[in-house]
Parts: sequence; C-alpha cells; structure tokens
Amino acid sequence: MNETNHSRVTEFVLLGLSRSQERQPFLFLIFSLLYLAILLGNFLIILTVTSDSRLHTPMYFLLANLSLIDICVASFATPKMIADFLVEHKTISFEACLAQIFFVHLFAGGEMVLLVSMVYDRYVAICKPLHYTTIMNWRVCITLVLIPWCVGFIHTTSQLAFTVNLPFCGPNQVDSFFCDLPLVTKLACTDTYVISLLIVADSGLLSLSSFLLLVVSYTVILITVRSHSSASTAKARSTLTAHITVVTLFFGPCIFIYVLFFGPCVLIYAWPFKSFASNKVLAVFYTVITPLLNPVIYTLRNQKMQEAMKKLRFQNVSSTQNF
Ligand SMILES: *[C@@H]1O[C@H](CO)[C@@H](O)[C@H](O)[C@H]1NC(C)=O
Repeated sequence: MNETNHSRVTEFVLLGLSRSQERQPFLFLIFSLLYLAILLGNFLIILTVTSDSRLHTPMYFLLANLSLIDICVASFATPKMIADFLVEHKTISFEACLAQIFFVHLFAGGEMVLLVSMVYDRYVAICKPLHYTTIMNWRVCITLVLIPWCVGFIHTTSQLAFTVNLPFCGPNQVDSFFCDLPLVTKLACTDTYVISLLIVADSGLLSLSSFLLLVVSYTVILITVRSHSSASTAKARSTLTAHITVVTLFFGPCIFIYVLFFGPCVLIYAWPFKSFASNKVLAVFYTVITPLLNPVIYTLRNQKMQEAMKKLRFQNVSSTQNF
C-alpha cells in the first residue's frame, strides 16, 4: 500500500467488486456483456423513437430520454470497473473520484425525477385524455425533460459542496468499484458525522419526494382506470404496468433494505453509517441492472415499439440492398 500519511491524498484505491483474484476474468466477461447489452438496448430505443414519426409523442420522447439517462448511469463507473477487473491494483485519481461522485448524483437524481415526468405524462393521458394534446405541448414536453437534468444538477452540486473541501490526509481505500460518496467522506481526516447526515438528508429528500409523488400519481391513475374501463383505458393500462414495474424495480430494493435494516433509506449512495456487502450489490443493481431492464420492460410489452423496430430493421435491409 502506498502510505502518504503526511500529505494530501492524490489518488484513491478502489477495492473493486470482488477481492478474489480467480473471479476477476469471469466478472470481466459477465460485466462486459451486460454493458454491451445496456448500450445496444438503449441506443436501439433512442434510434427507434427518433426514426419513426409515429413515435414522435411525449410518451416516447420521455422513454428515449430515459434510455439516454440509463446509458449515462451505466457509463460513469461501469467501464472503469470492467477495465479494473484486469488490474490488481485499482486506483483512481482524486479528480476522477470527484467526477464520479458528481455524475452518479447527477444521473441517478435525474433518473428519479424523469420517472416522475413520465408518470405526469401518463397522468394527463389517462385522467385528462381530451386535453392531452393541448396540455402536453412541445414546450411542456421539453420542460419535463429539462427539469430532471436541472434537479439532478442542483442535487449533485449541493452534494459536492459538502465534500469538496474535506481534508484527505492518509486513508484512501474505497471498498467499492467506484467513488461512492459515503465511503469517500468516511476517509476524511475530520469528523464527518454532520456532513454524512447532510448527505443522507439531501439524497433522502430527493428520493423520498420523488417516491411519494410517484405513489400518489399511480394511485390517482389506477383509481381513474378502474372507474371507467373503456377501450382507451385498456391500452393505457398496458403501458401503466410497464411504468409500475420500472418504478418498483427502482425503489423496491431500497424499500427492502429499509424494512430490513430500519436505516435512513435513500439511494445506495446515501448510506454512510454502515458499510456492508449489500452496498456493492445495490450499487451493481442501480448502475447495471436497472439500465438493462428499463428497455426490456418498456419494449417487450409495447406493440408500437416492436412494430417500429421491425420497420427499422426492414429499412436497414433494403437500404443495404441498394448498394
Ligand atoms: C428527449 O426529449 C426531447 C423533448 O421531448 C426530445 O426532443 C429529444 O429528442 C429526446 N431525446 C432523445 C434522446 O430522444
């Protein structure tokens, strides 16, 4: 270990997903394939939505934007983790570490708020179907996409503000595959109790308010769907199932952990008080599994998306035949 007790820490040592050396090639293979699948699946959604004019509606634009955020969430740490499976001594510079902290909060915070934007779109479609096109005009649509990025930015800036001036003077081992904020603050050579609390409160406020908004919206939507069951709501119901699945996947593990440990449950990154193995499992869940499942969930059950993808394939085949 490089002990630089006397000076400022210039790099952190990441202990990685698993310390077992024999497991590294296997993990390298698995995560490379998963990452490839995330990129392919989400780019396919973006390509399908942008290329098919029938999909130029707020719902599909929001879906494409979710795919974009999913790619971002999967890319801020996973490529480095994959490359790190091949090296024994995994390090990350101080600046890169701050960048990872910045991006995880920007993207994860943004994704949560985007889920709220998506449920708002569904709320208007189902509860105010006659006014849908007037309410969800182009400006509103852009706003629904911009708000998540703004909230994500404010959230991550506030998190960084707490940490950027912390003194790091010696301990530099982060027991994860990326610079997880709570794990990094723990390394500071000062009492970080209050800062840890602020970090939890910050993430907690964002997750909790998004979650409550989602629960309330879905409840209102479900009540509306149940009270008038016409053909139009039948279609709405199938997209609704996809939505609820995604939201459950996003918040489910968190709630599970909360029930299990009675801790302040927010996203993985707001977990400063205990560090246990499931920390890494949760981190993998949010950075790899969710971005992979979102496209699967939204496309497998969606006939319009599937038709558009078939058309896309046909177009590609015919255009290559022209050469
Ligand atoms: C995100 O949404 C905006 C506004 O609805 C849209 O113009 C844009 O194409 C979407 N982004 C992607 C990657 O589809």
